[in-house]
Amino acid sequence: MDTLKPTGQQKTDLLKGNVYQDNGEYHAMVCGDVGYSSASHFSSSSPIDGYQYATVGIASKQQINQSVQVAEEAFKVWRLVPAPRRGELVRQIGEEVRANKKMLAQLITLEAGKIIQEAEGEVQEWIDMCDFAVGVSRQLYGLTIASERPSHRMMEQWHPLGVVGVITAFNFPMAVWAWNAMLALVCGDAVVWKPSEKTPLCAYACHEMFLRAAQKMDDVPLNLCAVVQGDASVGSAICDSSLVKLVSATGSVAMGRKVAQTVSKRLGKYLLELGGNNAMIVTAKADLDLAVRAIVFAAVGTCGQRCTSLRRLIIHESIFDELMARLVKVYPTLPIGDPRKEGTLIGPLIDEAAFQSMQLAIQRVTEEKGKVLYGGERVDGGLGELAQGFYVRPALSIVDSKSSLLVEETFAPVLFCLTYSVLEEAIELHNAVPQGLSSAIFTQNVMEAESFVSTKGSDCGIANVNIGTSGAEIGGAFGGEKDTGGGRESGSDAWKNYMRRATNTINYGYGLPFAQGVSFSWD
Ligand code: UN1
Repeated sequence: MDTLKPTGQQKTDLLKGNVYQDNGEYHAMVCGDVGYSSASHFSSSSPIDGYQYATVGIASKQQINQSVQVAEEAFKVWRLVPAPRRGELVRQIGEEVRANKKMLAQLITLEAGKIIQEAEGEVQEWIDMCDFAVGVSRQLYGLTIASERPSHRMMEQWHPLGVVGVITAFNFPMAVWAWNAMLALVCGDAVVWKPSEKTPLCAYACHEMFLRAAQKMDDVPLNLCAVVQGDASVGSAICDSSLVKLVSATGSVAMGRKVAQTVSKRLGKYLLELGGNNAMIVTAKADLDLAVRAIVFAAVGTCGQRCTSLRRLIIHESIFDELMARLVKVYPTLPIGDPRKEGTLIGPLIDEAAFQSMQLAIQRVTEEKGKVLYGGERVDGGLGELAQGFYVRPALSIVDSKSSLLVEETFAPVLFCLTYSVLEEAIELHNAVPQGLSSAIFTQNVMEAESFVSTKGSDCGIANVNIGTSGAEIGGAFGGEKDTGGGRESGSDAWKNYMRRATNTINYGYGLPFAQGVSFSWD
């Protein structure tokens, strides 16, 4: 299938192939034959310096439905392609991503403001996900289960599911799509993606990697993947479509509730990865050198804008002063500034709204009788061309264990620190929040460590020992409990989300015994 190219428009250098620029407006070939020009648009500006670099067309309801429709047609072809061959597509995508790693990382930095080191890490996460999914393409197995009936065999098969809708956030503009799409593709599904409005070009670039790989093969329908850009209404349209068998959404708890309600109405499936409010317990038995390194990376990395970022630090009273003193010493030394520059560790917040919510949290620390020990303010002065960006000093604060701030996720680098005296109390504080994504304990005591990861310990989807809360590997199932939404993406057996299970019972005998010993005979 050929892609439809709007006439008289120029290909961009940055994204060759299927993205076209016309007077600063980007058009994506969302999929095979539904390239579109849009009636309405949104503007994208970089958090680095506020530079407005693109105007992007918003997909209309009709265009979204059309994308889903053609994705469904592509699915019907793709589901019949043997899974290891589907893996070959993902292997080819991995090759493209490897070859374009630097360019892709630069795009993440431009749109999300992530420091280049972390942006390259995100692209690596996609590459790793490709390798993982290629392996999975040869391991889509079901169980054989002992039948209670003679000469019967019971087994389960996993079949492709259909069109998968993916909704992603700005902070991992490529990797989170990749967690979903790489698995969905090997599972035999089609993918319609609504990326964040903050990172539209990252989505186009991802789509381009798919197209390049697909065009190298002769049996991949190009409509298998689509990108539909726009605001929340685009996400709603995906959720509404009964052709979309699974909606996998990453973002705020409020967004997740809407997705769940809309998809549930039509009894569709959803997979949610929502807010985290991640904590670390540092016990008296912790190696503080390790703990400090882990705390700083988890709390200020990605400018505190990971769903796995460290937000709460629960410290044993005997080491509280020492640990705080160490952190207060390190925080002012962390280089803040241009995320494109080697050596910068803290880039900008995504936008003014993120800055305002951080300011509000800082203000509330003092209102609630807490104390800000360091940071919280905007860096002004010395930023030159970056003055439009929202660069902040990461904040370290001490709060009371009853502070209302502790139950909310402030998506910015603000760390709330508190003390405890016995481990049970620390675990109770740890679990006393609505969210349940990631968690960590720092201790060299095996009883403390094992208690934390035991049934009576952390109630999160991720519980680590002597490792920070962020930076999970793709090989494990990623996601969390409670308000985090309960979904699991990426590694382990998360592929099962993207398939439907059929239980098959086969009678190879000449009688017809009923299960449960039921007799139903009339002669
Ligand atoms: C997210 O912030 O939505 O564990 C995902 C991590 C990354 C993924 C974060 N691998 O921090």
